[in-house]
Amino acid sequence: MESTPSQPRDTWGSKLTFILAAAGSAIGLGNIWAFPTNTAANGGAAFVLVYLICVIFIGAPVMLAEFTIGRSARRNPVGAFKMLAPGTSWKILGGLGVATGVIILSFYAVIAGWTVAYILKCMVGTFKPGVDTLAIFEGMSGNPLSAIGYLLVFMALSVYVVVGGVRDGIERWTKVLMPILLILLVLLGIRAVTLSGAKEGLAFYLKPDFSLINLKVVLAAAGQAFFSLSLGMGTMITYGSYIAKRDNLVSSTLWVGGLDTAIAILAGLIIFPTLFHAGLGLQEGGPGMVFVVLTSLLGEMPPAPIGGIIFGTGFFLLLGIAAITSSVSLLEVGVAYIVDEKRISRKKAGLMLGGMAFVLGIPSALGNGAVSWLTDLPGIGKDFLSFLFVVFGQYSLAIGAMLISIFVGWKWGVKAASAEVESEGNVFRFRRIWSFLVRFLCPITLAVILINMLWGVITG
Ligand code: TRP
Repeated sequence: MESTPSQPRDTWGSKLTFILAAAGSAIGLGNIWAFPTNTAANGGAAFVLVYLICVIFIGAPVMLAEFTIGRSARRNPVGAFKMLAPGTSWKILGGLGVATGVIILSFYAVIAGWTVAYILKCMVGTFKPGVDTLAIFEGMSGNPLSAIGYLLVFMALSVYVVVGGVRDGIERWTKVLMPILLILLVLLGIRAVTLSGAKEGLAFYLKPDFSLINLKVVLAAAGQAFFSLSLGMGTMITYGSYIAKRDNLVSSTLWVGGLDTAIAILAGLIIFPTLFHAGLGLQEGGPGMVFVVLTSLLGEMPPAPIGGIIFGTGFFLLLGIAAITSSVSLLEVGVAYIVDEKRISRKKAGLMLGGMAFVLGIPSALGNGAVSWLTDLPGIGKDFLSFLFVVFGQYSLAIGAMLISIFVGWKWGVKAASAEVESEGNVFRFRRIWSFLVRFLCPITLAVILINMLWGVITG
């Protein structure tokens, strides 16, 4: 194998820090920003139910598959496929993952950059009762300088963490940031469910109306599950490559998937009561819901005005922290690839890929009002960021997840993967169920999902 790493490979300090890092990757804008938005757009509790089913039966098995590939090969996704299936084209799947990571990072950092802007705005008490929150949002996202400036700030932070390495960068920062995130989330949740009007919000969110479940809801839930669990592009292969052989991959999967799901559910417990408080209800999806609707309530958050300042600052800080531990994982896939395969230093690799993602991110940043054709792409009817989100945040991940389950189920084989889970005497709970899911249920459902997604594109 041509890719023997020149130095001993970093591993996570312990199983706990690995779980925190992988959960840090999974928990991000997907949970706190996209999950409530998608729930609102797809009928509330019914969507939540379908989402849970997707996480358990498709998400979790694919996550375990990625961990086994990564830990067995101890390589980045490209190197891992080269090692486990030498001389085949499977390495292209790794390459697709690396490219997808850089592209997702490019637009992810745009939204994450907005959270930096909003932390500052909330701190100085911008959101007084009656302010025009839409104008404030458009003033920020439509101004080319601030749109690109915040992107740059956020990208620089991500590069800084990744360049520090697995132990001293990613692990060190997630260990500090994840507990803060959990505390903020619980505090904001308590504040939200004790607001007047919280009850209707909770009913919309938690009482399913089964008649609302249709194909569109299922597709949205499946796409949301992959994105939220960071699956389908080799993030979990890469993070898995740093796991110690003694750690149990099944319990790690349950922890990471469980934490990610719990945080998404909790985020809804913050957003929905807050939106229904003051009788606002649901207005629009997209960035609007968090940046425009939620902020319009801050001014009335008791005790005014300090309540709104604390809640708002806390909320966007939460969003920013969740985002950085995720963007770091998007960048790490490409950095691991370059460090392993091209023997270029971590620092150079981080700067190079971060720089690329920054440049690629500029059209996404400008497509929210600053440049009109990027804001409404001719013939597509979407802004540039939303377009990339659909192509790379949904289709590319669904293709990746399908091929990863085919690889583990049929090419590399569930026997070899199981042996990896059972390394150093670990017990493989759910072995037979998992083998069935990864060989049959995952690839088939993913193929059906993909066909429907693409069909949706063709038929508009
Ligand atoms: N899962 C993260 C979120 O919910 C985003 C993310 C990080 C991601 N790494 C990923 C998504 C890899 C897909 C693939 O915000």
